[in-house]
Amino acid sequence: MSRLAGSVAFVTGAARGMGRSHCVRMAQEGADIIAVDLVQAAGDLAETADLVRNLGRRATTAIADVRDPAALEAAVSDGVAEFGRLDVIVANAGIYADLAPSWELSEAAWRRTLDINLTGVWHTVRAAVPHLSGGGSVVIVSSTNGLKGGANTAHYSASKHAVVGLARTLANELGERGIRVNTVHPGAVGTAMIRNAEVFAKLLPDIESPSEEDAVALFAAKNLLPVPWVDPVDVSNAVLFLASGESRYVTGTQMVVDAGLTQKVM
Ligand SMILES: NC(=O)c1ccc[n+]([C@@H]2O[C@H](COP(=O)([O-])OP(=O)(O)OC[C@H]3O[C@@H](n4cnc5c(N)ncnc54)[C@H](O)[C@@H]3O)[C@@H](O)[C@H]2O)c1
Repeated sequence: MSRLAGSVAFVTGAARGMGRSHCVRMAQEGADIIAVDLVQAAGDLAETADLVRNLGRRATTAIADVRDPAALEAAVSDGVAEFGRLDVIVANAGIYADLAPSWELSEAAWRRTLDINLTGVWHTVRAAVPHLSGGGSVVIVSSTNGLKGGANTAHYSASKHAVVGLARTLANELGERGIRVNTVHPGAVGTAMIRNAEVFAKLLPDIESPSEEDAVALFAAKNLLPVPWVDPVDVSNAVLFLASGESRYVTGTQMVVDAGLTQKVM
């Protein structure tokens, strides 16, 4: 299979979780990868690059916080210098932290989430879009929290709704250049982002030290399909479709991968 043969993709938050999965899935289909993540994730980022190289594709890595536009610009231009082109941008890096009711959120928590999940996405596209030549695809990873609200997530939900506006605007600006821009909206995905004690405790306040088993039951009850969460590869398959020519006339859309979470009548 080579649905992205000859393509180069730039992925943020590439060290673990879905970012790693997007890199591997696109490399399986022939893409070379420019991968960035935080300094504390350097070891995992190197492992992502190894996974890509083990598939016979090329990878560059760089340490770049999406809050740092200069670092992003250096990472993407170094990668493009090495591979000679850029075709796909996947703005994936994000955080889901400091969950609290809207009126109890600290100023710092609000700003950190907006800085990474919204301004970081804008930095990512601003750094990389000028390198797209001859069309291309921008995929922004939002969330079902970018389509509906949820308790304790004002900062996260606001940021994930906001990137939809950014994507729709970019789709208008870039359409005439043959560049498509879409958002992907995962429901719960079984990564470290949600499978951790802080999230379990926030979601299950009536249970002392809730276990993963407790959380599985809660997450499963939110979905139409009988699973607690989707796997990273399920989201990567949507990213791959939007990155590839199979979606050549798809732009300005929101693709939901959520096991039915947004449609469930509770
Ligand atoms: N896991 C879920 O249930 C879920 C659901 C919907 C949407 N999402 C979104 O999917 C994306 C990936 O989530 P994940 O579950 O793989 O999370 P994860 O925590 O497993 O991975 C996130 C990656 O982003 C990196 N990152 C964090 N802050 C960064 C920054 N400032 N600059 C650069 N890199 C940074 C982390 O180091 C990490 O490697 C995020 O945007 C998240 O909001 C996740």
